[in-house]
Amino acid sequence: MKRRDFLSGIAVTSATIAAGQGTVHMPSPTKEVPRQSNPKNIIICAANGYNYLDAGYEKLHSGADTLDAALAVVSGPENDPNDDSVGLGGLPNEEGVVELDSCLMHGPTRRAGAVGGLHDIKNASAVAKAVMEHTGHVMLVGEGATRFGLELGFPKENLLTEHSRKIWLLWKESNSNQDWWGPGMDDPGWTPPAPMSGELKDQPPHVQKLYAMAADLGIAPEDRMDAIYKVLHPPTGTINCSTLNEKGEMSSVTTTSGLAWKIPGRCGDSPIIGAGCYCDQDVGAAGATGSGEENIKIAGAHTIVENMRHGMTPEEAGMDALRRIARNYNNDMTKIAYISMFFYILRRDGTYAGVSMWGEAGPGQHQRRFAVHDGAKRLEQAKFLFKGTAKDWPPMPRLSR
Ligand code: GLY
Repeated sequence: MKRRDFLSGIAVTSATIAAGQGTVHMPSPTKEVPRQSNPKNIIICAANGYNYLDAGYEKLHSGADTLDAALAVVSGPENDPNDDSVGLGGLPNEEGVVELDSCLMHGPTRRAGAVGGLHDIKNASAVAKAVMEHTGHVMLVGEGATRFGLELGFPKENLLTEHSRKIWLLWKESNSNQDWWGPGMDDPGWTPPAPMSGELKDQPPHVQKLYAMAADLGIAPEDRMDAIYKVLHPPTGTINCSTLNEKGEMSSVTTTSGLAWKIPGRCGDSPIIGAGCYCDQDVGAAGATGSGEENIKIAGAHTIVENMRHGMTPEEAGMDALRRIARNYNNDMTKIAYISMFFYILRRDGTYAGVSMWGEAGPGQHQRRFAVHDGAKRLEQAKFLFKGTAKDWPPMPRLSR
């Protein structure tokens, strides 16, 4: 069917409805979530957005659109070459190509946009917005997404910084037997890796070699342990940001370079509307960082918003989503121990929560945190499902100094 015929078909259908063949009943929330009693502007985001919250809040305060305010926050880490989890300088896929994912929802117009596997353009969130504004689609991926962005005038850049290239080389030279090929943790035959405790000198030779290799690659001494950590425990990075203004309008956006050393073409949760982020300003917004594969399987952000629609608080809604992930592994703690998941949740009445699968940011480190700005910028502690920290895979050895 030609596009014009298709559109004229829609026109006839709409006219029929308008002519009174029946009343269109819009779905209504099971429990109406009230608006803010003392309307104010609020932003909730992942902790790596903290330094950019003032820019976003200033936009909300001056009456800018809620999505533009959220983009002002997430473009900070996207433009920062030293943040290796998002945008420019993100850790690449197994072939050394930085592939970016992003999705967003604009509450006032109920529109959405997304890109997956975007390369050579650092602001994946802005390209996702362009998909929303300049196409009849919601999501573009890979070459198509990149060509679309370049045609619209987004600058072409090499996103692989020297910092990320060297960590990728370290992974490639040392860790090719521990890539993402082979069955995942949800395969019934999966077994946990052998524990690696003790000091670096007690580790298998390939682990001990990492430190020397990092030196050979010219990785600075102070960056070597961090590089080794990222080789042994590929990070997922990511930032989500949700906004609410005094008029009750909301938006949400998530952007990432995704899982380090992934198989080219792998998309996690971040470009998937309903997993990486979801917003319905009649109810609220939610977004995620952490294990994309686990979040996709529970449609986390959508699940949380629907939970709030049915009367849960942001904290209850997020905890329920975390429990669904645990349930997918029959609550088997030998597997859940390897899952890192964080949800950022903002309800239309201004209540919010950050909830995490695990309480601590790392062994013996501070409680996991998220960033808030409602006139006062701060980091707040997240609620969590399990005490302690997610296990590294394989666990990180200690370095004798
Ligand atoms: N949550 C980001 C990713 O898994 O790619």
